[in-house]
Amino acid sequence: MAYYVINGGKRLEGSVTISGAKNAALAIIPACILAGESCRLENLPHIEDVHLLEQILRMMGAEVDFTADGGMRINPKTINNRHVTFDMVSRLRASYYLLGAMLGRYGYAEVALPGGCSIGQRPIDQHIKGFRALGADVQIQRGIITAKADRLVGAEIYLDVVSVGATINIMLAAVGAEGRTIISNAAKEPHVVDAANFLNMMGAQVKGAGTDVIRINGGRKLHGCTYPIIPDQIEAGTYMIAAAATRGDVVINNIIPTHLEAISAKLMESGAHVIDGDDGREFFMRVSCENRPRAVNIKTFPYPGFPTDLQQPMMAYLARAKGNSFIVENIFENRFNHVGELQRMGANIIINDRTAMVEGVDRLFGAPLYASDLRAGAALIVAALSAEGRSEIHNIEYIDRGYEYFEQKLRAIGADITRVEE
Ligand code: UD1
Repeated sequence: MAYYVINGGKRLEGSVTISGAKNAALAIIPACILAGESCRLENLPHIEDVHLLEQILRMMGAEVDFTADGGMRINPKTINNRHVTFDMVSRLRASYYLLGAMLGRYGYAEVALPGGCSIGQRPIDQHIKGFRALGADVQIQRGIITAKADRLVGAEIYLDVVSVGATINIMLAAVGAEGRTIISNAAKEPHVVDAANFLNMMGAQVKGAGTDVIRINGGRKLHGCTYPIIPDQIEAGTYMIAAAATRGDVVINNIIPTHLEAISAKLMESGAHVIDGDDGREFFMRVSCENRPRAVNIKTFPYPGFPTDLQQPMMAYLARAKGNSFIVENIFENRFNHVGELQRMGANIIINDRTAMVEGVDRLFGAPLYASDLRAGAALIVAALSAEGRSEIHNIEYIDRGYEYFEQKLRAIGADITRVEE
C-alpha cells in the first residue's frame, strides 16, 4: 500500500493548473452510452475513479481508448453486456449513472448498488423515484438494481432533496423518454450544467440546467461529439485552501471563478487575499495569506452554497485560526471522520451532531494519519502541509480516486511530499 510522507511547514508558492472535474467526468463518461456514435472527451482527469469507469465500460463491451492528448474516445455501439456486477462497481459510487444512461438508451439496466466513500447513508431513493415516474419498473434484489421499461415517457418530477446524482441520473434517462420531462428542485452544481451541456452537444434538448427547474425534450437521436470537461471546482478549492493554510502565495490556473465564489468569500473573511483574473487565455485565481487566519463559520449547502466536499479541507485550515469557528455539515451526516486525525495533530475540535466547534490553535504537529474518505484525505494533506514536522498519510487510495498528480502538483509549488510505495 502506498502512503505519503509530508514534512510540513513549507510555504506553497508558484502556480498550479487544475485538471478536469472528477464529478463531471463521472457523469459524462456513462452519458456517452446514450450516443449512437463515438464521443471524444477532453480535459479528462486521470484519476482512479475515471480508470474504474473506463474498465467497467470495456467489460460492458464498449471500445474505449485514449487519445495522444490524454482525452478518451468511447464507442458505445459495441456494448453487449448490460449487467454491471458488484465486482465491477464496488469501489465506485458514481456507477449509479450507468443506470440512467442504460435505461435511457436501451430501456434496460442492471447495476449492482454502488460503493464509494463512507460519508453517510447516501440513499438513491430520488433516482429511483425519477426512473419510476418516467415509466420504468425498478426492483432491488440482493444488492442489484434492475430498471426496465418498454417505453419511457416524460414526466414532472419533484426532488424531495436537492441531489446532484438524482438530477443528473434522471436527466440521462429522460433524454431517452418520449416527450417533456420537468425536474423541479434540481441541483445546480457546475457538473450538472456540464452534463447538460454535453447532452445538448450530442443533440439532446436540455434547458434550465444551473437553475432549479430543468426541462428535457426527450426521444431525440443522439450523435457523437467532442467535448471538453470543465475544470474541477473542488480540486481548485483544495489548492486555494492549501495556499492559505501554508501562508503561501499560489496562482491557480484553469478555473471558472464563479464556481469558486463561496470558497473565495470564506477565505477572504478569514483574512486571506484572493484575486481572480484573466490572462487573456484563461482565468486564474491568486490566493495568498500572510498572517494567522481569523476564525469563520461555515455551513455546507448545495451549490452555490459552500460545498460539502471542501468542508473537511477548510476545517484543517481553520484548525490553526485565531478564535472559534463553527462548521455545520448539512449534506452528509458522517462527514467528520477526519476530526480524530486532526485532533491527533493537536487540533482542538468538538463535535455535536452536525456541528463542529473548532477552537483554533497556533500550531499543528505532524503525525501518522489515516484517510477515511477522499476529502478527509485532502484535509489531512492540508493539515500536514501546514503542521510542524513529519506526517505519514495512509489509505491514500481514497485520495487517488479524485486528485490528479496530487503530489507532483504540490511538489511543484514547494511542498515537501513524497509518495512511498510499499
Ligand atoms: C455528489 C458528488 C459528491 C458531493 C455530493 C454533494 C459525484 C460523483 N459525487 O454525490 O462528491 O459530495 O454530490 O455535493 O458527483 N440523497 C437522498 N436520496 C437520494 C440522493 C441523495 O436522500 O436519492 C441525499 C444524500 O444522502 C445527501 C444529499 O441528498 O444527504 C445530497 O446527495 P447528492 O447530491 O445526491 O450526492 P451524490 O450525488 O451522491
